[in-house]
Amino acid sequence: MSERIYLLPLWIRVWHWTNVLLIITLVVTGISLHFADPKLPLVEFSLAARIHDIAGFSLVAVYGLFVIANIVSGNWWQYVPKPPGVLERCKVQGKWYLWGIFKGEPHPYRVSEEQNFNALQAISYWVIMYMIMPVMLLSGLIFQFPQLAPDRLFGFDGLLPVAIVHYLTGAAIVLFMIAHIYLGTTGKTATSMFGTMITGWHEH
Ligand code: HEM
Repeated sequence: MSERIYLLPLWIRVWHWTNVLLIITLVVTGISLHFADPKLPLVEFSLAARIHDIAGFSLVAVYGLFVIANIVSGNWWQYVPKPPGVLERCKVQGKWYLWGIFKGEPHPYRVSEEQNFNALQAISYWVIMYMIMPVMLLSGLIFQFPQLAPDRLFGFDGLLPVAIVHYLTGAAIVLFMIAHIYLGTTGKTATSMFGTMITGWHEH
């Protein structure tokens, strides 16, 4: 008989899907702004700029709430890869993703309320949420308030390094999202992890 546990409280699920909607909006409008082509616009330039600004400010607010809720609820602890043996657990998990899964081997670690993420998930979620996202948001805010940027940096216009950092962190989030969706299919069935992110219930 399959066993299930209530894993993800409502606030995490609401945060997660709001975050997804805002990020997809930012990616589509961001691509329209970056590869702007007046003859073939994905979203017309000035409309894309307005939507990108509103979604960007909304994401700053949603991210702030995410950090506060993680501190208050203690969920931040899930993101900490716990020693001893973190490297070993990463290796075991990586091997399972690369070939164990294709040979029908069982998941190397069992999900529990105390330990929701495996070591690779903890590290990648931590890097995305606490290193890449804040830098992406901060560089976006500097674009909104360009007077915050220095006039010149490393001999270039002060906004150029900000633009490069914003583009690279945005691209890293897109790459993360692609890998994240693929790895989301590696639960008990191909859709069970998506189900958990909707209902909160995890099935072993
Ligand atoms: C269509 C896009 C996305 C889908 C379908 C998706 C799906 C999922 C699923 C199924 C889970 C639960 C399983 C797990 O914990 O790994 C999850 C968790 C998570 N996702 Fe996503 N995701 C998407 C986009 C994103 C994006 C863009 C970010 C961040 C930039 C993100 C960050 C996270 C985080 C941090 C968790 C763990 C939440 C927690 O339990 O504290 N996801 N996602």
